[in-house]
Amino acid sequence: MGREDLVPTAGRALDLACGRGTVAVWLARRGLDVDAVDVSPVGLAAGRAQAPDVHWIEADLDDGLPVAGPYDVVVCQRFRDPALYPALIGVLAPGGLLVISVLSGAGDAGGPFRAPPGELLEAFGGALDVRHHAEGHGEESLVAVRRP
Ligand SMILES: C[S@@+](CC[C@H](N)C(=O)[O-])C[C@H]1O[C@@H](n2cnc3c(N)ncnc32)[C@H](O)[C@@H]1O
Repeated sequence: MGREDLVPTAGRALDLACGRGTVAVWLARRGLDVDAVDVSPVGLAAGRAQAPDVHWIEADLDDGLPVAGPYDVVVCQRFRDPALYPALIGVLAPGGLLVISVLSGAGDAGGPFRAPPGELLEAFGGALDVRHHAEGHGEESLVAVRRP
């Protein structure tokens, strides 16, 4: 994820669109109590095989978040749904960490699945304290903390 020094070793974490759960498993091994959400039962099963203690939740994020905060860490990598952005802020605990990345038109051709350049900074830069932001080569990533 980069900036691992910012990630706590206790508390609650949420990994959205977790895929096969690589990040969720990493967070659980770091000491966090992890909820991991994906629409794919195949991905969730792969994650469960590695870490049965993670709460693997099969849900369609098109229907909104299936969980309630507060979370000390929220991760959403390589899945884009701008409609969820306000909810991501809403489930962060004060001092909580957001780690998010999307495919972007920055430095690459645009298209229906790519964010317009600067989308994450615009969505989160006002409400959160941005600790890292990068975009280019078709990606945008942001690490930010909710102010206490
Ligand atoms: C590119 S993968 C990223 C997986 C993981 N976050 C990572 O970085 O390795 C996108 C994930 O989003 C999930 N996904 C796509 N649409 C979804 C939806 N509507 N609700 C929940 N998960 C969804 C897919 O099943 C897939 O696991």
